[in-house]
Amino acid sequence: MVPILVLFFFCFPNNALAHSFKLIHLPTLGSESCAFDSENGGPYTGLNDGRIVIFEGAKRGFVDFATTSPNRPKELCDGNNGDDPKTGPVCGRPIGLEFNHKTGELYIVDAFRGLMVVGSGGGVATRLAGGRDGVPYDAPDAIAIDPISGAVYFTDVGTIFFKTRNMTEILLSGDTSGRLLKYDPKTRRRTVVLTGLAVPNGVAVSRDGSFVLVAEYIACRITRLWLTGPKANTSETFAELPGNPDNIKRTKTGDFWVPVNIQKLQPKLISFPLGQKINAHGRILETVNFYAEYNATYVTEVQEHLGSLYVASVYANFVGVYRRLQC
Ligand SMILES: *[C@@H]1O[C@H](CO)[C@@H](O)[C@H](O)[C@H]1NC(C)=O
Ligand SMILES: *[C@@H]1O[C@H](CO)[C@@H](O)[C@H](O)[C@H]1NC(C)=O
Ligand SMILES: *[C@@H]1O[C@H](CO)[C@@H](O)[C@H](O)[C@H]1NC(C)=O
Repeated sequence: MVPILVLFFFCFPNNALAHSFKLIHLPTLGSESCAFDSENGGPYTGLNDGRIVIFEGAKRGFVDFATTSPNRPKELCDGNNGDDPKTGPVCGRPIGLEFNHKTGELYIVDAFRGLMVVGSGGGVATRLAGGRDGVPYDAPDAIAIDPISGAVYFTDVGTIFFKTRNMTEILLSGDTSGRLLKYDPKTRRRTVVLTGLAVPNGVAVSRDGSFVLVAEYIACRITRLWLTGPKANTSETFAELPGNPDNIKRTKTGDFWVPVNIQKLQPKLISFPLGQKINAHGRILETVNFYAEYNATYVTEVQEHLGSLYVASVYANFVGVYRRLQC
């Protein structure tokens, strides 16, 4: 009996013993999102100081890959915290990242420059869509590529971010000025596809391109917009979550990972970071607790890559690699 019990205990998904956790140290803070290229190179990530860096193995660590600012003085910007309103626009602030695996291009949303793209060799990114055609950006945040059409979806978290950066105030604001935008690389047109969103800070497109998901941070839910089929152009609630979500990342098999931060406002704002795996029908398949590794640190992304979960947090100086042990 005993060996069977031990095995069961060891394999239970939430058991702290059943996984390993490794840190990959970053040059500075601000890793909001990670991306991997089609040869599994990476992770690539953006930093507070405006750099997009790529991890080139334990020996070299993270090295510079791209910038969103055409003239980014390294001596002024490297190590910058990104909050200075003077240096921020000069240094850039890449937030969401995702590769188009068919073209090898890395699409980026930058807090100051909006939607950008850079080729597989890196360097200075090109601006694709700024605040044109009468619909300015407020605060671009998350990005996803439709794997079938190549269309780029990205979120604008809304006007609340111009009023306050205090997360308690944002959580209590009830703001619904957020939007989901679409950029079509074929026509170079940018359109607004969904409005009235409650701080949309995550986006992902399904594996077959039939729907797009949007995380609504202050509403603790994920909304689905159908792109094809009989329900095309209609939206519905996809999943209600026990806490505040952030980036949504699709797995190879078509499920999704989303960080879920259980946030308590009193006596001060603290987060209990979880990751949840959700299938294409909105059913929660698995919950992973990162409290042991992140304490009360808010987590912005959980992404499955080659059997590990890459955990990003804008408040940490590392990318976490969480690996469930095989039984
Ligand atoms: C954020 O706002 C809340 C509510 O207004 C306030 O109690 C708290 O002190 C603020 N936090 C910071 C860091 O300013
Ligand atoms: C959905 O909306 C787009 C853009 O407004 C339009 O081109 C398309 O025909 C619509 N599709 C359906 C099925 O209504
Ligand atoms: C969590 O707390 C431990 C123990 O105090 C500390 O070593 C670790 O760096 C903390 N981790 C984070 C992400 O804050």
